[in-house]
Amino acid sequence: MSLVDISTLTVSFKRGLGHFTALQIEALQIEPGECFGLIGGSGSGKSTLLRVLAGLHRDWQGGIRLLGRSLNAQRVFTGSLRRDVQMVFQDPYASLHPLHRIRRSLREPRQINGLPFDEASLAASLAQVGLPGEVLERYPHQLSGGQRQRVAIVRALQLQPKLLLLDEPTSALDMTVQAEILNLLQALRRDTGMSMILVSHDINTVAHLCDRALLIKQGCIEQRLDRAALIERARTSA
Ligand SMILES: Nc1ncnc2c1ncn2[C@@H]1O[C@H](COP(=O)(O)OP(=O)(O)OP(=O)(O)O)[C@@H](O)[C@H]1O
Ligand SMILES: [Mg+2]
Repeated sequence: MSLVDISTLTVSFKRGLGHFTALQIEALQIEPGECFGLIGGSGSGKSTLLRVLAGLHRDWQGGIRLLGRSLNAQRVFTGSLRRDVQMVFQDPYASLHPLHRIRRSLREPRQINGLPFDEASLAASLAQVGLPGEVLERYPHQLSGGQRQRVAIVRALQLQPKLLLLDEPTSALDMTVQAEILNLLQALRRDTGMSMILVSHDINTVAHLCDRALLIKQGCIEQRLDRAALIERARTSA
């Protein structure tokens, strides 16, 4: 069973008096354990696709199966889907409440889902991403961008999702921190077998982490890249 199985998907937005189609794709399957890349220029529809798969954008037409369940447009995700699909946003501020200490932001996903919360495993997951326990007492603005993004990743992992959606998780960070976060994601994938969809405008990042990728242009699939095509594209873009 594919983790993501899109037969068709169309997303339109109101523009002026009419509509414009931001996304129109078909026949996209992502398998368990895969790291799948989405590449494309600004405004090509990458975030829109992730938002549909995260249940954040519900105004779409088409047929989507996610983790074996058929999605209904307009419907809020319920039950296991709400836990099994988690998203990390491009701007880590978007994942973290500015007025809540990190401890509270990290406890919340499990509390909301009625799951036990254990301080020791939280300390372990912070250590796993190279953060000291003292960040728990801080507010988001008291962390660096890279630390905030690590916290956002830890938060997304609290529910042990089966699918992690990453919307340009490193674009706001400098090169060294970018590399650290990418290595962290790779290690997570190796250790947990979790599937990921990674949006990035950087072909090297995608070629480094992903098994396959889509190149999206103006909302449509421009090219499907397998591992060999990804490596070749990264090589020729250098
Ligand atoms: N809520 C919205 N209302 C109206 N138009 C929207 C909305 N969200 C996105 N769009 C439009 O849909 C198109 C695709 O946007 P999207 O955010 O998916 O692009 P993207 O590929 O993620 O771009 P970027 O690389 O800049 O993040 C853009 O033209 C954008 O302006
Ligand atoms: Mg985007």
